[in-house]
Amino acid sequence: MSEFRVTAISKLHAEFSVPGDKSMSHRAAILGGLSNGVCTIRNFLPSEDCVNTLNAMKALGARHEVLDELEGYGPMNLRIHGQSMKLSAPAAPIDCGNAGTGMRLLAGLLAGQEFPSELFGDASLSSRPMGRITVPLGQMGAKIETRGEKFGCAPLFIHPAKLQPIIYQMPVASAQVKSAILLAGMFAEGKTTVIQPAETRDHTERMLASFRVSTRTENNAISLYGGQMPESCDFTVPGDISSAAFWLVAAAALPGSRLLIKDVGLNPTRTAILKVLSRMGAHMTEIEHQSEGEPIGNIEIHGAALTGTTILENEVPNLIDEIPVIAVAAALAKGKTIIRNAKELRVKETDRITTVVEGLRAMGAVVEEFEDGMEITGGTPLHGAEVDSFGDHRIAMAFAIAGLFAQGKTVIKNTECVNTSYPGFAHHLDAILHERTHAADFTLPTISRE
Ligand code: S3P
Repeated sequence: MSEFRVTAISKLHAEFSVPGDKSMSHRAAILGGLSNGVCTIRNFLPSEDCVNTLNAMKALGARHEVLDELEGYGPMNLRIHGQSMKLSAPAAPIDCGNAGTGMRLLAGLLAGQEFPSELFGDASLSSRPMGRITVPLGQMGAKIETRGEKFGCAPLFIHPAKLQPIIYQMPVASAQVKSAILLAGMFAEGKTTVIQPAETRDHTERMLASFRVSTRTENNAISLYGGQMPESCDFTVPGDISSAAFWLVAAAALPGSRLLIKDVGLNPTRTAILKVLSRMGAHMTEIEHQSEGEPIGNIEIHGAALTGTTILENEVPNLIDEIPVIAVAAALAKGKTIIRNAKELRVKETDRITTVVEGLRAMGAVVEEFEDGMEITGGTPLHGAEVDSFGDHRIAMAFAIAGLFAQGKTVIKNTECVNTSYPGFAHHLDAILHERTHAADFTLPTISRE
């Protein structure tokens, strides 16, 4: 079992880029595999989660060739052979690993096929709610059985079905649910509409547009006509702002620091973290250098003495994955930070309200837990502790950042899980811990397979 050993830093001066966006990589594998030709995907995230989705598409007939690989992890640049919406029956059950996004999006894709399929995942994924997709997909005519030990959970047995379009009002603001319904809608005759209670990340809509599949968004209702053929295209995945968030918090909370994160996704449905850190007192500039499709740019951040803030209700879906590390920033800031309306955190890879609260308390922070969030009274110096990630990648990384500000040694247990979203995190952590400043120290080694 691997672990991170972290001690306090006094300096952070660095410029680097983080691996590709997880959400976009899942979607690029799926839409590339459905398209009518060959697509080159660059900067694909070679994480376990996304590689599982790529392999799922292979099992459904959409093979790929690896052009470049991130050494020790998986494909970064690849060519995927689209199947013109005609998938073939998988020979075996499909492993989604730890990925809620992979399982929910693939369930949407598979709901309207003429063949049966089975999706399974690890222990964490097998305890996450799947009713949020099986209910609306069922309304479309899908026949999905949840056969998990826990009610409404994976494995999913998906029987052949012919789908009808629906108008669905989602009870939770979830991009995974929205995307599962839209993918199913591509195989239904007529107009499928999904209405979200609040804005969620819009990568599916943007990527469908890149593949020339039209969708229409009116307020929070997204509609799509089934039967459209995705046209093959090339797609470069920007760096994942949710991975960048760990270093942005580290730099924000360290007065005198300067960090430049390059070529990162700046989609406005994902950048609330930047607003929150600015509100807390960090100095930041964003320079966008691509605005078409998915906005991409550089973020430069300078540290400051941070102050607490209140996370607004409508910001929560935008920064749901960043809340663990925002809680760390809050513990380092002066005053109170209030995070409410975030009950969804309880059904992530771990119950992230409990894992964050317990980890922060173990390090000496003052935290009150609520059913839907927490209140953190920052400013009490953190001390090193042993913190278990419980197999949750974002918990492992958030507490590695906390360790950079704690007196004494922090040991994070059970850290292999970071590979589900950030292969190379340990390499970047090592460079930061040793206060390295050269760009080369942050470069992750790649191997060409062409
Ligand atoms: C994701 C949506 C979010 C997020 C997850 C990725 C996506 O989940 O937490 O990491 O790619 O659609 P929910 O849809 O459950 O909010």
